[in-house]
Amino acid sequence: MKNTVVTFKRDKAEGRKLSMVTAYDYTMAKIIDETEINGILVGDSLGMVTLGYDSTLAVRVEDMIHHGKAVMRGVKDTLVVIDMPFMSYHNTLEEAVANAGRIIKETGAHSVKLEGGREIIHKVKAIVEAQIPVMGHLGLTPQSLNIMGGFKVQGKSEEAARKIIEDAKALEEAGAFAIVLECIPEKLAELVERSVSIPTIGIGSGGVCSGQILVYQDMLNMYGDFKPKFVKTFADAGSVMREGFNTYIREVREGTFPGEEHTFKIKDDVLEKLY
Ligand code: KIV
Ligand code: NA
Repeated sequence: MKNTVVTFKRDKAEGRKLSMVTAYDYTMAKIIDETEINGILVGDSLGMVTLGYDSTLAVRVEDMIHHGKAVMRGVKDTLVVIDMPFMSYHNTLEEAVANAGRIIKETGAHSVKLEGGREIIHKVKAIVEAQIPVMGHLGLTPQSLNIMGGFKVQGKSEEAARKIIEDAKALEEAGAFAIVLECIPEKLAELVERSVSIPTIGIGSGGVCSGQILVYQDMLNMYGDFKPKFVKTFADAGSVMREGFNTYIREVREGTFPGEEHTFKIKDDVLEKLY
């Protein structure tokens, strides 16, 4: 079934949970697209998990486009959201709309995601008016790392919790089709989920959200630098990969790889002339 921003909203209304994961290249996008995952996020987490930076701040619009294009080549039925990176929507309204437009035009993806609430609401509105679906992102917003003083659970005080609820309502009002809720207490996520009719997609925010999202390297145990509490290992691909590489090394050293079945032949009469 083809996933769109329309089916996302219908899925929440009809009580079907949404599953999203990140992807950053063709091979992974294709594997994911062959499952019933509803949405792929080309997250600016790519700065950390594929480029090796220690935050998302250095990621450029060009990086998002480069990886977004690769993902789109592997996708048929999955909704694709591309993160707008740090400083691509923080300056003027015109620049925000132009960067969103560039990301969509050059990749063919279906929507963009911006971090923040009422402080960026005029930009969300303008991007939606340009007919580009927008996903919101509240709670722990990694592009605000230096303001938050680290990757920490958000919305614990009454004031901070109220701000998240009001921001979610403002995002719905501005036309956002869904909102990521990252690292907020489950009971607050429940209040947000009930305060808006658009789906909330949780990460570290409990099971009450309309759906969940995880970074694939986290859920497949491939990224060892940092493992947040909310991550569950669904398959230990990291260990399977290491085992595969080690077996390869052993067989190369022993001479058991490549085998007969991996080699090409030349005709005997041609070979004779070469000796
Ligand atoms: O960049 C990312 O992967 C994200 C998700 C964790 C929501 O923003
Ligand atoms: Na992100």
